[in-house]
Amino acid sequence: MGKAEFYYSFSYRAFSKYKLQLLLIFCVAFFPSSSSSSSGFSFNSYAISCPSAEMMVKNTVRSASDLDPTIPGKLLRLLFHDCFIEGCDASVLLQGNGTERSDPANRSLGGFSVIDSAKRVLEIFCPGIVSCADVLALAARDAVEFAGGPNIQIPTGRKDGTMSAAANVRPNIIDTSFTLDEMAKVFSAKGLSMDDLVTLSGAHTIGSAHCSSFSDRFKLDPNGNVTLIDTSLDRQYAAQLTKFCPAGSRDDSVTVDNDPGSPTLFDNQYYRILLEHKGLFQSDSALLEDERTRNRVLNFANNQDSFFESWGVSFLKLSSIGVKTGDDGEVRQSCSMTNSREGIHS
Ligand code: HEM
Repeated sequence: MGKAEFYYSFSYRAFSKYKLQLLLIFCVAFFPSSSSSSSGFSFNSYAISCPSAEMMVKNTVRSASDLDPTIPGKLLRLLFHDCFIEGCDASVLLQGNGTERSDPANRSLGGFSVIDSAKRVLEIFCPGIVSCADVLALAARDAVEFAGGPNIQIPTGRKDGTMSAAANVRPNIIDTSFTLDEMAKVFSAKGLSMDDLVTLSGAHTIGSAHCSSFSDRFKLDPNGNVTLIDTSLDRQYAAQLTKFCPAGSRDDSVTVDNDPGSPTLFDNQYYRILLEHKGLFQSDSALLEDERTRNRVLNFANNQDSFFESWGVSFLKLSSIGVKTGDDGEVRQSCSMTNSREGIHS
């Protein structure tokens, strides 16, 4: 496929010719080598080897999301945690002692069974062709669409990594206590900008969180009144949260929706919540507090189309981080183990 053939589409509304041209330029600039057949990372890369690959993933994600509306959030977070550690190479899916998946920071990840199901179908119809890294990226892409977000095209041809080390998780993942500068530094190391940070944080418009992720933002005084430890949080909202999660609670059995108004809908509500100082994590509130990111929050809160357009661009970047091609990786037979069953770092 030549560079000029690159395309990128949103189905939620037709793009103007001008915007489409801008995106074409972006894609060619951002993936200078991705169009070459030598790298194999390109749009519609399974057109000949497994023409129904993307549809098979989509159908699996659709069925799973219909049965369980929390699946889209899980799949989206799973991709984020995969791509930030060792690149988008499905290293987060590998099971075993000392793998990324075994690290406590990844303890609350979910959606693994959906990836396994899609892979099983693919192995029946196209054995050894479609990588787990592609299945995960496509599944996260589809998850957003099924939750009501934009439908975007992403390149495929990622190879699966053969290494996965828990020790690599903490240095590469962001903690909710990080300042904006600390978050921007981690994003920058992955080739993502502060704008991408604001846009991709919009993922918190779906899904939920355990008490331990935010219950250190407030405490109760002896009279039962809420004291804010993080003053960027709305006091009344904090009081509401204490009903589910007592201050400092590490209770893993309780989850709270990131966006209580529409927890399963991928929309711009996350940014509206931020304006009300009801972002669930300290790292969410930080986006409103800092003038370098505030305008983007305001724009997205007022304009969902703008958020969706930016989402397409930033998601493309996220799902292209550190992609392995050629001999840098393999196509796993099973997503939870390497083909040789070796190479997993402990
Ligand atoms: C920028 C810094 C980020 C921080 C500090 C952060 C932190 C967190 C935390 C603490 C949770 C809750 C985990 C739990 O308690 O179960 C969570 C959930 C989630 N995050 Fe993030 N996140 C960030 C960025 C992202 C990005 C870039 C994405 C995807 C593009 C994402 C997608 C999600 C989703 C969808 C959920 C809900 C998961 C579910 O329902 O199971 N997050 N995040």
